[in-house]
Amino acid sequence: MADQYAQSGEDGRPTEIPAIRWDEPPEGPVLVLLDQTRLPAEEVELVCTDASALVDAIRSLAVRGAPLLGIAGAYGVALAAARGFDVDEAAVALAGARPTAVNLSVGVRRAQAAHRDAVAKGGDPEQAAGAALAAARRLHREDAEASARMAAHGLALLDELLPGGGHRILTHCNTGALVSGGEGTAFAVALAAHRDGRLRRLWVDETRPLLQGARLTAYEAARNGMAYTLLTDNAAGSLFAAGEVDAVLIGADRIAADGSVANKVGSYPLAVLARYHHVPFIVVAPVTTVDPDTPDGASIEVEQRPGFEVTEITSPQVTVSGAGGGIPVAPLGTQAYNPAFDVTPPELVTAIVTEEGAVSPVTAEALAELCDRSRQV
Ligand code: MRU
Repeated sequence: MADQYAQSGEDGRPTEIPAIRWDEPPEGPVLVLLDQTRLPAEEVELVCTDASALVDAIRSLAVRGAPLLGIAGAYGVALAAARGFDVDEAAVALAGARPTAVNLSVGVRRAQAAHRDAVAKGGDPEQAAGAALAAARRLHREDAEASARMAAHGLALLDELLPGGGHRILTHCNTGALVSGGEGTAFAVALAAHRDGRLRRLWVDETRPLLQGARLTAYEAARNGMAYTLLTDNAAGSLFAAGEVDAVLIGADRIAADGSVANKVGSYPLAVLARYHHVPFIVVAPVTTVDPDTPDGASIEVEQRPGFEVTEITSPQVTVSGAGGGIPVAPLGTQAYNPAFDVTPPELVTAIVTEEGAVSPVTAEALAELCDRSRQV
């Protein structure tokens, strides 16, 4: 069951709530999420008392973004174990909640393996649940560390590619603290540039249809005091043509072995624009987003979302007459094409920045070497 149990900001000013936290109130362990569907209007916590509530939260995008999905998946397994549910059944449901971000199944598998190992070593259910929780906490911590290292590597790369500073960075979707144990991926690089006085402007794509850029990235940029401007996704072309973009920084949901990058739909057109305008197109993601088992872009499963997300303006604040509960913006019965992600081929990617360093040019060999290096650490 999920329940909204805390709403902050009575004076209208949002307060600090982490994207995810484990809690152990007297009634039993819970996973508490900052409900991202309700931002930026209000900061509301969503409490999951079992894995099926978390599956719903993942599907509705209350919790989202590749690294955070991994962390959530791991905690979800720990929650199932702590609450005495069938861990393997919960793991299957959690890993299958969304198909594209590989981090989700990586996180689920890590906690599941820790649980299984504890059982194999003769641990009782409580010890096995403790092992799953420890694995989830470790992943959470590692993601925070990876985020800081990505920011440093990304900033160094920006300085190398764009000497002189004063960067004008275009970003898409949301890749900050809301998707991470730390400060995020691409957004963390822009934030590091901002703190160093080297960010002239963050251009924020609104990111249709669910407005992760407008609702979440603009929210994070404002909270961090960054100079940012919001644009509709289709205004990006004229921005490039006007020479206003120095670099594109995006995250990734899955990077195939050949370097193809799946990210929020609208990323691929930005890569094409960037190439035409000779602007670096940089992907920032932890090594856990690289999936050696997915050989190429065509093998990445792209999640298809319900059509009402396109035919209606949906928001928790809007409950009108559309089938999805939003304001209809197309004639009733209109069909919609609504892939959540698109795939950018490696030849359009200037560099992939990870916590282990940057890969440029992006080749299968360089990525494989990076993954090997990370496994040895
Ligand atoms: O559908 P979402 O909001 O989960 O999509 C998120 C993205 O596409 C992000 O850019 C990606 O997960 C990278 S987050 C660091």
